[in-house]
Amino acid sequence: MNFTLSSVHLSAHPTDLLAVGVADGALAATLSALLGELGADIAKAAQEDELSGKVATAAIYPTHGRISAARLCVVGVGGGSVDELRRAAGKVGHLARSRGARQVTLALGDLDAAQLTAVVEGYRVGNYRFDRYKPAADQKAATDDVTVVGAIDPSALSTALAIADGQALARDLVNEQPAVVHPERLAEVALGLASEQITVDVWDEERIRAAGMGGIIAVGQGSARPPRFIHLTYKPAGTPRRRIAIVGKGVTFDSGGLSLKPSDGMLTMRCDMSGAAAVLGAMLVAGRIQPDVEVHGIIGAVENMMSGNSYKLGDILTMMNGKTVEVHNTDAEGRLVLADCLTFASRLGVESVVDLATLTGACVVALGDTYTGLFTPNEALSSALLGHAQEAGEHLWRMPLPDHYREKIKAEWGHIKNVGGREGGAITAALFLSEFVDGPAWAHLDIAGPAFFDKPFRHFVTGGSGALVPTLARWIQA
Ligand code: BES
Ligand code: MN
Ligand code: ZN
Repeated sequence: MNFTLSSVHLSAHPTDLLAVGVADGALAATLSALLGELGADIAKAAQEDELSGKVATAAIYPTHGRISAARLCVVGVGGGSVDELRRAAGKVGHLARSRGARQVTLALGDLDAAQLTAVVEGYRVGNYRFDRYKPAADQKAATDDVTVVGAIDPSALSTALAIADGQALARDLVNEQPAVVHPERLAEVALGLASEQITVDVWDEERIRAAGMGGIIAVGQGSARPPRFIHLTYKPAGTPRRRIAIVGKGVTFDSGGLSLKPSDGMLTMRCDMSGAAAVLGAMLVAGRIQPDVEVHGIIGAVENMMSGNSYKLGDILTMMNGKTVEVHNTDAEGRLVLADCLTFASRLGVESVVDLATLTGACVVALGDTYTGLFTPNEALSSALLGHAQEAGEHLWRMPLPDHYREKIKAEWGHIKNVGGREGGAITAALFLSEFVDGPAWAHLDIAGPAFFDKPFRHFVTGGSGALVPTLARWIQA
């Protein structure tokens, strides 16, 4: 999808769909100023439809050949904030896709760099579908060309396009069926990101075992698909200003293992590699925007299956950092995989590590399905991530990480056990992870809610959302 910026009057652009942004209370004035008589007619129709400029409300009207656009979309931009523009552009992207509009013109007003970024991000999210298995007749074309009209600061365009591509990659990986996206496939996708500045190291099962990664080995051993440990490194041309790592849970299917999930809870468990997908999306962004920051992407890729070779309740695993973990539930597998990844990340000598995981249903119970839980003992990292999420229009909420809950994961025979009871389940999972971080500042992002939407949310269709790619992209650059 190409984005072109233009300061030429919008009626000069032949287009399938022209979207005009209307601020709160500015319906008639905006449309008449831009489109003259046609604008006045449409303003009347829009008024009758009770369109007022409220954010992301929209309607589409025929132009009967009176301007070069086949159809006109009136879309509310509310007060014109970055967030409102993102949602308005998302709405237009969504409507354009349902109608198969290939050429689209956006007239959402003059845009500074942050506003243009939001418009590009929002449009691409709204225009996204995963329809490769649908009957051909139900597949609607994505937009080919978007022309953004107005006085626009172009400086952030290439970054915005990179973020949109990274987020779309993450969504495709989550939406694709688990028969296709297994650990080796995640490794292939990672290898596909290799470039002059990105090196990719893939470890097979033997190498993982030899490194002492007892968590990854145990979770992966019940599957016919062998695990992979994936390490991507982006190095800037000069001396890096910062060195950071992002770690993703890559459980390509979570059946629960011997602690088998009921069918309803298992249906969408291909989404359990959303953390890994976000890491791959963010590494794509790093390769494109080339920040002067060293970025490590680390993925533990496994399938959690039930078989004669599955790990068992009562097993005591020796993890890469030497700690022993009693298995009380094989469905609490993500923390076992992440634990070894965090040990590896701790040994890189980076200043900060952020992990992303669809880790607990408890986090969804606590925060609902659009919020990511943020767990960190580090104030600076907390405020940085909260700030980036705010700019990216993503929902992040800090959760407590109290030491006095550590007793909930105390074990009878080993150092710790892999579950801490129902109460505060997202917190005890985060406390478990903290046992494997040694050195860097660390934050854990529980994306179990927003990584995968069970029904449409705003301009997101059902399915993988690419959650946190926009936030990580901003953190990488900062
Ligand atoms: N992958 C799940 C968590 C999850 C739930 C992600 C819903 C997305 C949506 C995780 O591996 C899991 O099964 N967690 C258990 C932990 C429990 C056994 C302590 C859970 O949340 O029930
Ligand atoms: Mn599980
Ligand atoms: Zn899981």
